[in-house]
Parts: sequence; C-alpha cells; structure tokens
Amino acid sequence: MFLDRVKPLDAILAAAEKKSLKRSLGAIQLMLFGIGCIIGTGIFVLTSAGAQKAGPGLMLAFAIAGLICIVAALCYAEISSTIPVSGSAYTYTYATMGEFLAWTVGWALVLEYAIAASAVSVGWSGYFVGTILNETFGITLPAALSGGPLAFGGVEGGIINLPALVIALLVTWLLMIGTSESAKVNAVLVVIKVTALTVFIALTLPEVEAENFNPFLPAGVFGGWGTGVGAVGAAATIFFAYVGFDAVSTAAEETKNPQRNVPIGLVGSLLFCTVFYILVAAGAIGTIGGQPIMGPGGVPFPAGSEELARQCAMPAYSAALVCSDEALAHVLRQIGYSGIGNALGYAAFIALPSVILVLLYAQTRIFFVMSRDGLLPDVLSRVHPKWQTPHIVTLITGIVVAVAAAFLPVGKLADIANAGTLYAFALVALAVMVLRRTRPDVKRPFRVAGLMIIAPAAIAGCVFLFVNLPSEAMIVLPVWTLIGVVIYFAYGRSRSHLGRGVVEVVDDILGDETIIPIKSPND
Ligand code: ALA
Repeated sequence: MFLDRVKPLDAILAAAEKKSLKRSLGAIQLMLFGIGCIIGTGIFVLTSAGAQKAGPGLMLAFAIAGLICIVAALCYAEISSTIPVSGSAYTYTYATMGEFLAWTVGWALVLEYAIAASAVSVGWSGYFVGTILNETFGITLPAALSGGPLAFGGVEGGIINLPALVIALLVTWLLMIGTSESAKVNAVLVVIKVTALTVFIALTLPEVEAENFNPFLPAGVFGGWGTGVGAVGAAATIFFAYVGFDAVSTAAEETKNPQRNVPIGLVGSLLFCTVFYILVAAGAIGTIGGQPIMGPGGVPFPAGSEELARQCAMPAYSAALVCSDEALAHVLRQIGYSGIGNALGYAAFIALPSVILVLLYAQTRIFFVMSRDGLLPDVLSRVHPKWQTPHIVTLITGIVVAVAAAFLPVGKLADIANAGTLYAFALVALAVMVLRRTRPDVKRPFRVAGLMIIAPAAIAGCVFLFVNLPSEAMIVLPVWTLIGVVIYFAYGRSRSHLGRGVVEVVDDILGDETIIPIKSPND
C-alpha cells in the first residue's frame, strides 16, 4: 500500500534515451549554472537573520550547511546521471520507492520551490525599498506597504509587502509568456553577483577588527531544541543560501563526460559558494559587528519575530547588522562606501529576480509532471497554444507565491522552504541507496565512491539541520505532509495513471512524452 506502484525504471530510461539531448555542457558551464541558481537572498539578505541566531558563529554555520549540501549533492549527481528525466526528487523517488513516497516528496518540493520563491521575493523587496527607492530616489515607502503585519514578524505598521507581491507576479507573468533564462543571461548575472560579493570581501576584510568576533558563539553551538538559535540553528536557516544546486542535476543528461563533469559542477559550485559565504560573513561581522539582540535569559530574540522587529525600531539598533533588510549594502554604507553599497544593492536588485524565476519554473514543472502522472488535475498540465507554457499551473503557483511573499518575513519563509528541501534531499539520498540494491545493473554515468557512507551521512545531515530549525518551521512539514496525504488518498491514488496501468514519462512541456501501457503489478 505505501511502497507499491514503483514506476518501471526501464520505461523511464527508454524515454530518456529517446530524448537524448545533445551532450554539450562542460564542468565550467555547469558550475556557472549552479552558482546562478545558488547565490541569492540567502547571502544578500539572510546574513542578518543568521547573525541574529549565531553572531560570529554564522561563519561556522555556513561551513556546516555547505558541507551537508556537498554530501547531498554527490547523491544528486549519481541519481540524476542514472535517471535523467524531469521531475527531480519526485521522479527519482517514484522510480525507486513508489508513488506514495514520491507524492510526499513532490508535495514537499512545493515548500522548497514555491516558498523559496516567496522568500527571494521578500529579499528582493528589501533591496528595492532600501537601495532603489530610498537611496536613489529619496522616496520612503510607507511602512504599511513595505512589510507584512507585525503579528507575522513584519514591520511596525506593516500591512503588506507590496514590492515583494509585485515582483513575484511579474516573474510569474514572464514565465507564463514563455520567458526562460538563457545561458548567456545567466552567465552575465553570475558575473554581477560574484563581482558584488568579491568587492564586498575586498573592501571589508582589511577593516575587520578582532574584537567584533568576541564572543564568537554568543548563543552557543546548540541553542536548544526548537529555538532555532546557536551556530547550528543559524546553519539550518542559512542552508537556504545553498538551495538551488539540485537544479544543476537536471542538466546531467546534457553534460559531456558526466562521470567527471556532473560532480565537478555540483560540488564545485557549492565549494565556491561556501568559501565566498564564509568570507562575506567574516567581512560583515568583522567590520560592523554582528552580535545578536538578546532577549530574556540571554537567548537571542527569534529572527523574524515581533519582539525583534520592535527592538529594531529603537534608535539604539538602527545601524545593527541583525536589523538590516539589505545586509551587505548596509555594511558597506556603514564603513563609508555608500556609493559601492548602492552598487551592490543594484546587483541584488538585478540578479535576484532570476533566482525567483528558476525556483518558480522548477515548481511549475514538478506540478506539471505530477499532473501528467494523474496525481493532480489534468487542467494543471494544460499548455497554452501560443506561449507553449503550462500557463494555468504557473498562474496559480505564482499567486500563492506572491501572497506568501506579501505577508511573511524572509527568515520565516526560508525556514519553511528549508524544512521541505531537507525532506526531499534525504529521500534522494535514500533513493540512491535503494537503486544500488534493486538495480545494480543500470548504467550509472556517475557513481559515488563510498555511497554507503556518503548517503547515510547526507540523510543524517538533513535530519540534523531539520531538528535545529525553529519549532514553528519544523511543524510545517508534518502538517503539510498530512494535508498532502489526505489529498493523495482522496484524489490521486484512484486517478494515478500508473495505478490504472499506464506509465507515462514526461520529458518536456511540448508533449515529448512516452506512454507505455503496462499491466500494473499492483492491480
Ligand atoms: N539559494 C537561493 C538564495 O539564496 C535560493 O536565494
């Protein structure tokens, strides 16, 4: 009942073979693609929330989260080179552990992609309001329009985050009419982001003062169950800064010499970002300080909480790193580089929408595949005759993303996105091990050496980060999964195409799909 309906791997591989995209990507292109998806709101904005949780221990947090992602990335590299079709973790699970678990993964990916898109929209809004409106045009957007209500951890007097709502809808519209990011645009944006971070590091590191790192772990390594603070609490939050590397795995089948290039692309982009992130954190905290604002009992106020928002409204904290909505630009302004701080703000303003685009795109494609499998209504896989995009699912997803962005603070959204992502990563690591056992014969263009150590380590790392999230983010995953399970049994299970004896492997929107009627072993 729970582990049945495994999608036949041979049908999937046959479809992939039929599609056989030209192998044209090298290691550098893959790394560029990875860095384009990875660098975003995490480093540009969540540095504040991370410092509020761990102070200078944020540097350690970046190292912990980066390491866990690298181990998980190796599992992605193997499975994506073995099963190179759309649907990412959802399809991998469907082909190894069956429909029920695949559904829960697909359902959790909504948190990874859609909620992450909301988080990046809110991050973008911080730079838009600060750098573009305020610094450039001298316009102060009323609090009512620049953040969600205080009750949700927004700003004092906040009602709605209008810029976040608008950017999410704008990106939705671009996706609906068929915009996709070309490799060239991605390369330009990567150069912009990496230049901004390099300049940041070059200007801040020489001005670092040792006493700003003292105490190094003001909230300890473990801040306590459910608090989400301490170095590992910060790691659980800034894990968000690495999310997106799994998108690289979707390019596995277009990669030349995948045995070498897929792992280099995945691990290389993660290593690159880890080093940059640690240096950025050192520069930010070492110059203007980044100690948390402590609440009762010497425990930091939760990031994105009403209490913290109140503290931040006081003049004493107006310049604090932990209170800034545009962390990196703020640091540069504080140390006397206002113009360059604004330039960094422009870089974030230009580059972050492409991260929203990639996340939203990934979300709509997952829904599309789930709908083609019969687990979601057919209307979601309807393709627009002119735009050739799944416009209905894109619009629905975009509206939900925009509404979440309008009312919730970035840190909370990121934590919720992380909860779903960690679940998906853990199941991918499990799927790789299962596939080694069940199908040792299948060709694996990339094989992880020591998988039986690496995959359990990835699962342990994901569980470890998950239990260090704040309790309200942790609880979202089981509640969300429960809702998904009810929908599955009420709707999807009886309509599933596989359950009805048809295997469909969807490779792209334009109907390049293989339909193989089978006698389902489950009937
Ligand atoms: N890693 C991406 C970001 O930080 C999602 O924006």
